[in-house]
Amino acid sequence: MTDKPLFLMTDARHFGVTYQINPWMRPDAWKANPAALTAAAAKSASALRKELEKAGARVEIVDAVENLPDLVFPANAAIVLDGRALVARFRHPERQGEEAVFRDAFLKLKARGLLSDVIELPNKILQEGAGDCIWDKDRGFFWAGYGQRSTPNSIPVIESVFGQQVVGLELATDRFYHLDTCFCPLAGGRVLYYPPAFTPQSLGMIRTHVRKKDRIEATAEEAAAFCVNAVNIDNHIVMAKAPASLRAKLKALGYSLAEVDLAPFILSGGGAYCMTLRLDRQSGNQAAMRAAE
Ligand code: ARG
Repeated sequence: MTDKPLFLMTDARHFGVTYQINPWMRPDAWKANPAALTAAAAKSASALRKELEKAGARVEIVDAVENLPDLVFPANAAIVLDGRALVARFRHPERQGEEAVFRDAFLKLKARGLLSDVIELPNKILQEGAGDCIWDKDRGFFWAGYGQRSTPNSIPVIESVFGQQVVGLELATDRFYHLDTCFCPLAGGRVLYYPPAFTPQSLGMIRTHVRKKDRIEATAEEAAAFCVNAVNIDNHIVMAKAPASLRAKLKALGYSLAEVDLAPFILSGGGAYCMTLRLDRQSGNQAAMRAAE
């Protein structure tokens, strides 16, 4: 294992917007200019990788596969904690072919000692990886989205596979179809989130667990710019190009912000967090166990 944060990304060579499974997806816009957008996507992905590396991370790359354009969003490939990867099961047939590709990638990472277990979901459960299940480092539990892509029966499974508490958050609209589009825990116990994406009950859960002074509400404009979909490494936050309002809010709280032009990926409804999967997260419990050994 490495001390540096470790992320998985996918080569963007076969990215495209060729179908529509969320309301942000623009196959028409893609079709108008595929060659230029493919080139722009490659540039965007490598700029994102550079920013992660600048923030101290290491990045592993999964090969692109033709006809699996959304493979560039490995956040949806699995939930990973303590070296264990619970492989996703996708709702839409368009993405189901990614499961085997990612499983294979995880088994290779396991062979290299970068993961310890690759675990399968039981039948009849849909769960779209870390896109719908976010580890809250400061609170020591998972926040899990359901109601759009992942099914609520994924929650007890996540709890038992990882031996961790899971707080379920029902997503209210298809515009914010994965939890990571509208919810982002930040170092220091803060949470950046977009309230209209949640049902009243799940907003109540957020308020129960996150003190008012730690709740940073995103505006509609900030959420639509895919800025809640951010990667946080300590004090650094990497995200798509941000409205000035968000830049100011985060700066005032002492975060250092790196913005990347992710326009081609936003045509697919994805931002910085979607394009990455953190592989080296350890739960406090495990760390405590190891410290006690
Ligand atoms: N086009 C992809 C989909 O609809 C985008 C996935 C973005 N990933 C994410 N974790 N939000 O599935």
